[in-house]
Amino acid sequence: MAHILKWMVRFLPEFTDLAWIPRSLKHTVTEMIEAANSRFRSFNRDAADYVLRTVRGLGRTRILELGAGAAPLSRMLAARSDAEGLELVPSDRTPDRASFQELVAHYPGRVNPCFEPVDFAQDSEPDSTAVAVFLSTFHHLPEPLRVEVLKRFTSRGIPVVILEALRPDVASFFLCLTGFIGGIRLPFAMLDRPGKLRRFFWCWFVPAVPVIIVWDGVVSVLRLWNEAQWRTAHAALQDTDVELEVEEGACVQFVRFTPRRV
Ligand SMILES: C[S@@+](CC[C@H](N)C(=O)[O-])C[C@H]1O[C@@H](n2cnc3c(N)ncnc32)[C@H](O)[C@@H]1O
Repeated sequence: MAHILKWMVRFLPEFTDLAWIPRSLKHTVTEMIEAANSRFRSFNRDAADYVLRTVRGLGRTRILELGAGAAPLSRMLAARSDAEGLELVPSDRTPDRASFQELVAHYPGRVNPCFEPVDFAQDSEPDSTAVAVFLSTFHHLPEPLRVEVLKRFTSRGIPVVILEALRPDVASFFLCLTGFIGGIRLPFAMLDRPGKLRRFFWCWFVPAVPVIIVWDGVVSVLRLWNEAQWRTAHAALQDTDVELEVEEGACVQFVRFTPRRV
């Protein structure tokens, strides 16, 4: 049964990955993910603390926020005085240029986004002086590519930090169902940002966001790796001499692959 489910999941898309959904809807869904994890939960704040501890511990100053969506990590770190001196580089396969532009205007010199599409599964010149961060994003990679991508970064001396706001368990499944209420609340939760009419349109008039957020959440739970799978992936990297840390909490996972020659 588990094998059949795993096989089926390969064919279940997450809406944020579909090329045909209107940009304004995708933008609203990624804002919803940001609101869920920054405003309705403390996950993004905890993730930013973890990233900051990692980059300070390793003496790095450049953070690649991959699959950034509305760039919540760069937004949080750019606003923090204890993160001064860091360069924040959000990118995405379908870049949210409006959010990136807004961050550049607010934090000139600190946020330096890639305005062109960056596909972290393929683009092959990662910056070897940086730390690569996947915030609620690594599980979007098809399973057969995951070890390959980890290898590409770590073999160049780039530490990889993977932060997931869910776990492959029943509690996370039920948490996803509450996303429907979050989708209804979104237009009120983000009154401080441009795009108010767009949010009312996609959350209330055409209530696609509350439905998509539940669907994408459930598919994520099915795609996420458990600790044993992270350890198997680590074993596949041994020739590159990488250290693995896995921390799990209630509906969260913090995973770090650190090459020893960093
Ligand atoms: C669930 S959203 C997370 C957005 C953001 N990191 C956050 O936490 O709010 C996943 C994001 O990953 C991006 N993505 C998925 N696969 C990607 C790939 N291969 N390369 C770059 N971005 C990708 C999607 O476009 C989407 O914006």
